[in-house]
Amino acid sequence: MKVAVIGMGNMGRALSERLLAADHAVQIWNRTPGKAADLITRGATELSSPDDIDSDTEAVFICTADDRSVLDVAAPEGVARAGWPHSIVAVTSTVSPQTLTQLRELYGDRLVAAPILGAPRAVASGEATFVIGGAAVALEALSPVWQLFAGPFNAGTDPARASVIKLLNNQLLMTGLAVVTETVRVARAAGIDDETLTTLLQNSAMMPAGLRNRIPSLFDPQHAGWFTTRLGAKDLGHFLGLAPENTPLPVTQAARDAYLSVADNGWDSADITALVELDQRPQA
Ligand SMILES: NC(=O)c1ccc[n+]([C@@H]2O[C@H](COP(=O)([O-])OP(=O)(O)OC[C@H]3O[C@@H](n4cnc5c(N)ncnc54)[C@H](OP(=O)(O)O)[C@@H]3O)[C@@H](O)[C@H]2O)c1
Repeated sequence: MKVAVIGMGNMGRALSERLLAADHAVQIWNRTPGKAADLITRGATELSSPDDIDSDTEAVFICTADDRSVLDVAAPEGVARAGWPHSIVAVTSTVSPQTLTQLRELYGDRLVAAPILGAPRAVASGEATFVIGGAAVALEALSPVWQLFAGPFNAGTDPARASVIKLLNNQLLMTGLAVVTETVRVARAAGIDDETLTTLLQNSAMMPAGLRNRIPSLFDPQHAGWFTTRLGAKDLGHFLGLAPENTPLPVTQAARDAYLSVADNGWDSADITALVELDQRPQA
């Protein structure tokens, strides 16, 4: 297929890598230029503007950070992008159902939601899963892409429903990790060394399997990782937005506040495991 990938952050780069490895023709664009020289070496073409995609581009994959950035890219001035008159527009970013509904009004059946379950390295290796939602004909047209990954998880014809399913998954991730970070902080304060604690987390039946890949990053003083505190807080905010008014969700609310607080405290671009530093600023 001939595709474009918009956003060369952790996810956009990983998706492009996977597509290039399968010999798809990949055009790339990032707001800040110069972040994907290695992908160009591997055959990607860099665009100077999202409008510059080739006219026979079959799909544009949007992989930017949040709702604002997705709308900036896909709906500048509040209208469908003039340079994308025919392509399917696939939003892989985790955004609110409302944003997808807004974009569907602009792009109609060409709008597909495709949020991703999995880390960037699982995207690059093909182990990640897309939650896909949109018109059957558009989902079918993208099957050469879905085939490069596990799944997909078909949420049906409404793109907003794919977003809801993704947000349910991320609430499990983010709240579960928040609990583990408190386990680590109290263990350390109680004098348990990191090696013993690592052994406990690796072996305890109480440790969610999906969090085990974050154990090294929990103990990394920089919390390098691959999914930032700000993005995690965004997802919990969207999850809270799904709940009917006056529905108390104190656990999720507290977790969201904690991720926001740590992001505001200097850990903005660190991994979500930086929550173990809740009351600490990064060392200069
Ligand atoms: N990382 C993960 O493990 C993971 C897993 C599942 C889902 N996701 C979701 O995937 C999406 C991308 O995540 P990521 O980890 O790739 O984020 P990231 O590494 O922080 O990259 C964010 C990207 O968004 C771009 N961007 C931000 N604001 C923009 C704007 N106003 N206009 C245009 N581009 C803008 C950035 O461009 P600049 O370089 O110019 O700043 C960058 O390319 C997010 O919605 C995230 O929640 C991430």
